[in-house]
Amino acid sequence: MQKIIITGGAGFIGSHVVRRFVRNYPQYSIINLDKLTYAGNLANLKDIEHEPNYRFVKGDIVDAPFIDQLFATEKPDAVIHLAAESHVDRSITDPIEFVSTNVVGTATLLNAARNYWKGNYDKTRFYHVSTDEVYGSLGETGLFTESTAYDPHSPYSASKASSDHFVRAYHDTYGLDTVISNCSNNYGSFHFPEKLIPLAINNIKQNKPVPVYGKGENIRDWLWVEDHARAIDLIFHQAKAGTTYNIGGHNEWKNIDLIRLLCQILDQKLGRTEGESAKLITFVTDRAGHDLRYAIDATKLKNELGWIPSITFEQGLDKTVDWYLDNQQWLNDVTSGNYQQYYQQQYAKR
Ligand code: NAD
Ligand code: TYD
Repeated sequence: MQKIIITGGAGFIGSHVVRRFVRNYPQYSIINLDKLTYAGNLANLKDIEHEPNYRFVKGDIVDAPFIDQLFATEKPDAVIHLAAESHVDRSITDPIEFVSTNVVGTATLLNAARNYWKGNYDKTRFYHVSTDEVYGSLGETGLFTESTAYDPHSPYSASKASSDHFVRAYHDTYGLDTVISNCSNNYGSFHFPEKLIPLAINNIKQNKPVPVYGKGENIRDWLWVEDHARAIDLIFHQAKAGTTYNIGGHNEWKNIDLIRLLCQILDQKLGRTEGESAKLITFVTDRAGHDLRYAIDATKLKNELGWIPSITFEQGLDKTVDWYLDNQQWLNDVTSGNYQQYYQQQYAKR
């Protein structure tokens, strides 16, 4: 593989994937295609922005003429597609934006790849990065496997499920070399503070209420973002065309237990008395259609490609909290402007 377009590379997971590929594969040329929405931030890639094998292109995956032109001029061998609207709460407020970016945007990229590669798929690859949320919600037991039936509930997960179906359709109908991975909740550096873990760290740090939806009983399976990027690297290079892999941390946490743990860690790191940060926990109105539990069975990835998470949750959370404490400027930059408005609207109605 020589030239790879990575979409959404200025976002949370995309920036870790771009960094990994730029650093580990100097022989590849990496093009980061990103629209720079509220979630895209080139500051996430400051450390590699001058590398000779990296280039940023600003553009919208929904803009078909632009995407077709990009394929014609850049002549990519592969696409790793992460660009998306990614926040469930925003999808409840504005579902159509999710249909546009996640469904139409993915179909637009698939079609550009098909038109450009013209049936000659040897040494090409279209890698679609997806989520475990397409499988819906688990009860108290069981795990999502690659053959679990799709059952999305939120506009976000419905749009991701639809995009996964388009990727499979392009493989089955046109023979495009596609791969899909469905991953559990990620956490780590450069995570936009509208998502639970960075929002909680930021609020605890600022002595602001930490909003917990409903009773905090919902369960998520958390994976360190750099372990996700490493899994994407392995799957991109080794998976057979048309296959799917689940990626997860075997690391289930009830939201309320996770928030309490973060409060404890921050009490220690900020020199607060034990229990001080936990006083900030505030139960708010539940999310509509809130999935109870996600949990991934990543056995296929382990058995076929030898992947397991490299660090424990305690280690990952410790690194993550330190990163947010050390990067106040990054937090100030991403929480100013539009984000303030979003935050006020989102939590005023709870
Ligand atoms: P993010 O919201 O942090 O980043 C998304 C990026 O896509 C941003 O840089 C944004 O500017 C860009 N983008 C949005 N619309 C675009 C468009 N129309 N054209 C070009 N670029 C556009 O998201 P993330 O959390 O890094 O997630 C990345 C991918 O991984 C998504 O596809 C998401 O569904 C998937 N995923 C996320 C998680 C998670 O826990 N965050 C878990 C599993 C899968
Ligand atoms: P989130 O980070 O939005 O990820 P997802 O909804 O994609 O799993 O939320 C993780 C969990 O935390 C989810 O059960 C909703 C809950 N949550 C809160 O309790 N409070 C919050 O302020 C947010 C953003 C999420």
